[in-house]
Amino acid sequence: APVLAGTREELAALLAGARRSGDRVAFVPTMGALHEGHASLMRTARAATDGPVVVSIFVNPMQFAPTEDLDRYPRTLGADLAVCADEGVDVVFAPSVEEMYPGGFSHDSVHDGVTVAPGTLATILDGASRPGHFDGVLTVVAKLFGLVRPDVAVFGQKDYQQLALIRRMVRDLCLGIDVVGAETVREPDGLALSSRNRYLDPDQRRTAVALSRALRAAQARAPYGVPAARWAAMSVLKEEAGLELDYLALTDVDLGEAPEVGEGRILVAAHVGRTRLIDNMAIRFD
Ligand code: PAJ
Repeated sequence: APVLAGTREELAALLAGARRSGDRVAFVPTMGALHEGHASLMRTARAATDGPVVVSIFVNPMQFAPTEDLDRYPRTLGADLAVCADEGVDVVFAPSVEEMYPGGFSHDSVHDGVTVAPGTLATILDGASRPGHFDGVLTVVAKLFGLVRPDVAVFGQKDYQQLALIRRMVRDLCLGIDVVGAETVREPDGLALSSRNRYLDPDQRRTAVALSRALRAAQARAPYGVPAARWAAMSVLKEEAGLELDYLALTDVDLGEAPEVGEGRILVAAHVGRTRLIDNMAIRFD
């Protein structure tokens, strides 16, 4: 079973031996409410090193807007530790908010500390719908990187823009960490696993599968070009009365303009009831 650390000092003590012997440290940051998607990241981390695998569980208040679901975000530490144990995780770091933000954080009006500015890649897609969200994500991930000092860190493609921004931060700030992007794990009907899926009632759960169905419809039409792919996805999404579309975007692999021919990405965000869901897939235009 993994050892649980609640403070920076405990974490540092647990990793001191690995650090001395030069073992590769692999890291999976999470907000808990762990599911099979998180477990797959842990397996990727486990396979990346003979040294310690560290998982953090921290619901980061800085990345939630005051209107968002911070208070109702699921907290399931006991079950989370069992998932980590099953996947051969060595250390679980589950700090308090005070431990991570002893001086407060940036939506506190009194705070004037240093944070990470994510640049223009954070102004589109989810960043346009959730102002400040990626400032909070990159700031907490930078702090966690500083505490864990991993050699390799694993993130899911499920949060594709987040993954792109973390790669960009590691490059631009010269953090020297290998960032691995792991495939999205899905339910048998195609719904991407998410901690937020547990908010959905049975009707909403049936509606939610339209996201992945729309992306697959677009993939099937992509040989006819970008407009045909977009139209195929939109016609699936418009069928769903209980779904309020936030964005549907077809891009290149770096979230720039979609190429006429070649590899790209299709990304969707929508509200189903009060729950905001996102999904994305690779797509090839020719
Ligand atoms: P969280 O939503 O808990 O996700 C933790 C990691 O699991 C992220 O890298 C995410 O992309 C990945 N993940 C979630 N669902 C997945 C799925 N169905 N398949 C594969 N991977 C999946 O993302 C965050 O937390 C936070 O923003 C964090 C990076 C921890 C910073 O607070």
